Amino acid sequence: MDYKKKISELIDSPLVTADDIMIAAEGHGDYALPCFKYAKQLRKSPQAIAGEFAASLRCGDLIERTEVAGGYLNFYLSRAAFVREVMLGKGSTDALRAANAGKTVCLDYSSINIAKPFHIGHLMSTAIGGSLYRIYKYLGWNAVGINHLGDWGTQFGKLLAAYERWGDKTKKLTLDDMLSLYVRFTDESERDPDLAEAGRTEFRRIERGEPDAVRTYEMFKATTLEEVDKVYARLGIKFDSYNGEAFYNDKMQPIIDELEEKGLAEVSDGALVVRLDEYGMPPCLIRRSDGASLYATRDLAAAQYRADAYRFDKCLYVVATQQNLHFRQLFKVLELMGRPWAKDLVHVQFGMVSYEGQPLSTRKGHVVFLADVIDNTVKRAREIIEEKNPELADKDAIAEKVGVGAVMFFALGTQRIKDVDFDYEKVLSFEGETAPYLQYTHARCRSVLAKGAGQEEGEPDCSLLTDDESYDVVMQLSRFDETVADAADKYEPSVVARYLIDLAQKYNRFYIAGRIITDDRALTRARLALTRAVADTLKTGLRLLLTEAPDRM
Ligand code: ARG
Repeated sequence: MDYKKKISELIDSPLVTADDIMIAAEGHGDYALPCFKYAKQLRKSPQAIAGEFAASLRCGDLIERTEVAGGYLNFYLSRAAFVREVMLGKGSTDALRAANAGKTVCLDYSSINIAKPFHIGHLMSTAIGGSLYRIYKYLGWNAVGINHLGDWGTQFGKLLAAYERWGDKTKKLTLDDMLSLYVRFTDESERDPDLAEAGRTEFRRIERGEPDAVRTYEMFKATTLEEVDKVYARLGIKFDSYNGEAFYNDKMQPIIDELEEKGLAEVSDGALVVRLDEYGMPPCLIRRSDGASLYATRDLAAAQYRADAYRFDKCLYVVATQQNLHFRQLFKVLELMGRPWAKDLVHVQFGMVSYEGQPLSTRKGHVVFLADVIDNTVKRAREIIEEKNPELADKDAIAEKVGVGAVMFFALGTQRIKDVDFDYEKVLSFEGETAPYLQYTHARCRSVLAKGAGQEEGEPDCSLLTDDESYDVVMQLSRFDETVADAADKYEPSVVARYLIDLAQKYNRFYIAGRIITDDRALTRARLALTRAVADTLKTGLRLLLTEAPDRM
């Protein structure tokens, strides 16, 4: 149920809407209405307005009492009715989903580069995009996950030239081999101009579609995807499309023509550009002087393709902050071209990742592979489990879930715009604000439920859950859907992470406050019902953060 809406409807004033109602601060009731913004229009003090709203309010089943404090009107819900509604009420998520039915969001995420390592820097895009994908689906949207592969450019000519010269054709190529070949090419071509020329020739052969060149290029692509797919499988990430840069090779000309026809593009030093000085940006490069198309041109074609193919309501690009200018230019050019959907394009940016205090930089050779990070985290999780719970069955499977969860929560637990540093101790702590803490709380719930097996039958007496500790948990539970919706609005999975930490903390306070399984059958039943609701919500919420919740750990 949407309490903000319900409360706003109880107030006898057309000025008050659901958006004006907020969650009350600790110790000030459950919900609150700040009255400051009406003061000017009503020519009264916020305090007086709050008083008048209070007097006109029809208290009923929902609200037990109100309180005027400062310029706020605070609402205390009638606990028993509220708990009943949350614990037994059904269908509110269905209504939420129905409201979003038919909406489509495209998510461009992970978007790795062929023949380049899947390093920890890609982690953020993969995790944030993968999580938002699940969040939107939970909310009833149709989500389209797109891996906009970096699979075009002159580097493939260089790699091909290197492979032809030094590649071992007798065995299966790996991603590591491709990296070494590329590094060797870069080194040697500095001294050997013929090599550089060979690279250009090979790229032209790929461009012209010469079968043997294309076959090898496709092999580079397949090899890369095979390796990254292993990582995606571990993280439970999926894509609906792998249309990358190469896919747009034959789709750019109409865009370029249109830019010229509309007088938006001009030639400058032999290159075709769209000037954006008016908007405080450098020109957007459309075609290089040697005729080659560019990253931006492909993105223009890609946006058009997505608009046509998916008719999206929103199209998100989950890409690091470094590409901020690129996306601002892209969106502006599409707006100038008169695309009405340009306003629905969003750059979902995120900060930098460092690793145990060290910056990540491919150029300086400090590359940390994501698969290694996951492996190491899982290995350490295995050690911790061995120490904490040596009797546990299935330790390997559980360590995998804990390790992957720890890495995902690292990427998703902090506001995305902030820079983050990966540190094994921190991500694996069972006490901090981490995935293992949430998984542990979930397992605690399941173990309570196992102990109380058979005592849950029948409808719980919700009036037994009105004490402060239980009520806090119920209140938190009631906010799950609106929290997920808020996370989607802000493109911010950390909103869900924060919510789950709060839920776990509130449940753990409840857990400590009194026994769950007692001689009192009715009380036991009610507390078990609450425990089950918490366990299910933790599990669902963790799933949205790409993290599984084992029943035991
Ligand atoms: N492959 C690019 C990179 O690794 C990211 C692509 C993002 N998506 C896009 N449509 N430009 O930097």
